[in-house]
Amino acid sequence: RAEPSRADPWARLPGAGLPLMPLLQLSLLALLVLLGGSARAARGHERGQGPPQPFELLSNRAVEASSAGDFEAAVRYLEQALSSRRRLRCRLECGARAPLGTARGGGGPAWELRFLRALLERARCAHRCEREDEGSRPVERHATAAARVLSRSAEDVRLAFQKRMPYSYLQQAYSQTNQMEKAAEAAYTFLMANPEHMAVPSHDENTETVTGAKLVDREAQLHLEHYRDAVEHYEADDFQLAIESFEQALKEYFVADRECRLLCEWSQSYGDHDKLAKTDGFYEVIAGLYSQRLICEHDCVRELATWPGQLSPIENFLPLHYDYLQFSYYQVGNYVKALECARAYLLFHPDDEDVQDNVKYYESALEESVDPQTIKPREDATIFMKRHKLESELIMSAVVNLGIPYTEQNYWIHDGGRQEDSQALALCSGLAQQLSVPAGGPLLYSHVKFVYNSKQLNGTQRMLLDDVLSEEECRELRSMTSRIMLAGSGYQGEVSPLTPNEKFEGATILRALKFGYEGRVPLKSARLFYDVSEKARKIVQSYFMLNSTLYFSFTHLVCRTPLSGEPQNRDDLSHPIHADNCFLDSDTNECWKEFPLAARDYSAILYMNEDFEGGEFIFTGMDSQTVTASIKPKCGRMVSFSSGRENPHGVKAVTKGQRCAVALWFTLDPLYRELVRSPCDASQWSAAGLTCSPQKCLSSFPAS
Ligand SMILES: *[C@@H]1O[C@H](CO)[C@@H](O)[C@H](O)[C@H]1NC(C)=O
Ligand SMILES: *[C@@H]1O[C@H](CO)[C@@H](O)[C@H](O)[C@H]1NC(C)=O
Repeated sequence: RAEPSRADPWARLPGAGLPLMPLLQLSLLALLVLLGGSARAARGHERGQGPPQPFELLSNRAVEASSAGDFEAAVRYLEQALSSRRRLRCRLECGARAPLGTARGGGGPAWELRFLRALLERARCAHRCEREDEGSRPVERHATAAARVLSRSAEDVRLAFQKRMPYSYLQQAYSQTNQMEKAAEAAYTFLMANPEHMAVPSHDENTETVTGAKLVDREAQLHLEHYRDAVEHYEADDFQLAIESFEQALKEYFVADRECRLLCEWSQSYGDHDKLAKTDGFYEVIAGLYSQRLICEHDCVRELATWPGQLSPIENFLPLHYDYLQFSYYQVGNYVKALECARAYLLFHPDDEDVQDNVKYYESALEESVDPQTIKPREDATIFMKRHKLESELIMSAVVNLGIPYTEQNYWIHDGGRQEDSQALALCSGLAQQLSVPAGGPLLYSHVKFVYNSKQLNGTQRMLLDDVLSEEECRELRSMTSRIMLAGSGYQGEVSPLTPNEKFEGATILRALKFGYEGRVPLKSARLFYDVSEKARKIVQSYFMLNSTLYFSFTHLVCRTPLSGEPQNRDDLSHPIHADNCFLDSDTNECWKEFPLAARDYSAILYMNEDFEGGEFIFTGMDSQTVTASIKPKCGRMVSFSSGRENPHGVKAVTKGQRCAVALWFTLDPLYRELVRSPCDASQWSAAGLTCSPQKCLSSFPAS
């Protein structure tokens, strides 16, 4: 028999191993936040009972309050809204304290009354628990709480929440009321959902922050974090650690699943009277409500597999745990567990031939010691699938009999882990569109020299300029870099994230400002970093003749240094070939878009030195191999290009010295602009320096 085949890690997030984002649990509860919309005025009580009120308050009053400058009120409303999540605990407890299951059995005419008693007990428990939570304040209740109207633009709300917009408001409100630590925490939570390039930075150095406090991502999702770790161990062939992490990930998955389901007790669709009105009868209404909740619960599979800021879930997410595990257990010689996991995987994909073969292999390996037929699929998967199937059946029955609109999702694409081209991410927008885009606008600064256009660079939407910086400016930036650089910046502190042969260091605008403000580098130098990036932005916007504002999406000062003793004849790259706003798949000639990276429209790299060897910037074809243009960095040189599939690029190995540059990414979409920048715009600078503290810069999210 062939050796068991290995679960292919394609399904990890593209760019895994690089900073991945914790999941925002996109709860339906969260959806409520903006669903009410500003058209619906808050009803005047400050502490609502049950989530609809707080979220209504968030949508109406907090936003209103913060735009009216009443930040204390905004904080209060926002805190309340976010704390609703904590009420989940009540639901959890009451689920255990007042089980509906006791109503079962016995039969006879009293059955329904017993069920009603259990139902009332559950409701009473939840009611009381939430009141305790809220303190003793009298609570106005709205009988119409359930009568909320489902917004027609649910997708917008979903997006806004996936971008954690509430946290950006919260952060602003905190900072205005001088609660800096909390502001930083909210900012961090926001940033985690608004990270940057897969092969470029998240904002990790902000974790040690301005306030020195260790920040927590309030929406971090343990199951995804463990999963990410597990896949990393697996890829490193460290199977024992992979097993531990996958097991932990599964445990956390089921915890998160329970929580996700509880949120469905407040599903916004209950209020959709249009659907219920047609079926007025008692049982029809109950069945309708029940079905809505079931649909909501059923969709938790999708919610739990989705990273924050991303629209599509990781495909085949839950089953993959078992696939990875079966191979890992096989690797450490535990065939019983390997078989249990392989069988568990088959519950999801009974026809998967690779795993079927693995099952046969494990069976024959075990034959001598145990009867393989006594080894069942893992219990957690069995229970899960049993319920999942039953849910599907019931929902389908509701669809057919009650006319509830619903289309079952394909929760785990069957092609599963072993085929490469099954990723269903959105395709990059067409090349043709790019070709027609104009370029050649004015360079704005007389000292800036034009070098090459797209054609001379053998591509589209590219340009090369010289003398964007003076020698003096290069020197000043260079001398600042050595003092503010953070190893592995943007890569969660990993020192050599892109190639093992080089050390990677970086610094964000915020870090530069912070160091400047604290006097650790000349404030003037920090300001220079800020100003040259703005200059670059203006040039790019003008040259590519963009008729709408180009916003910063991220700015990063980066240096690459070969590690000593490394071979001179390297054939690795300093930065592997990639496109900036999509995930290049050279085999299929496609480039897959996923937000937030997909929001990037233009990129620029501004060089500040040439006293190193190697390190040429290269453009390649879609094959990632054919070099179509090569650029030798030097002080003041700037290459800029559109961020899409038309411009795959990378950096050749740096073999001697240190190569430093300012990397800039821009977006035309204000939703994705760089958070820390706008508040620190030129108006905050006086002759004496920075008039606002970097804390403020971090924490005041620009109002739009
Ligand atoms: C911007 O406007 C100019 C003049 O109207 C036009 O020629 C150019 O194509 C526009 N640029 C873009 C990117 O649409
Ligand atoms: C563009 O391609 C030509 C022909 O292959 C090559 O000679 C030239 O160096 C390329 N341009 C750049 C900037 O690399």
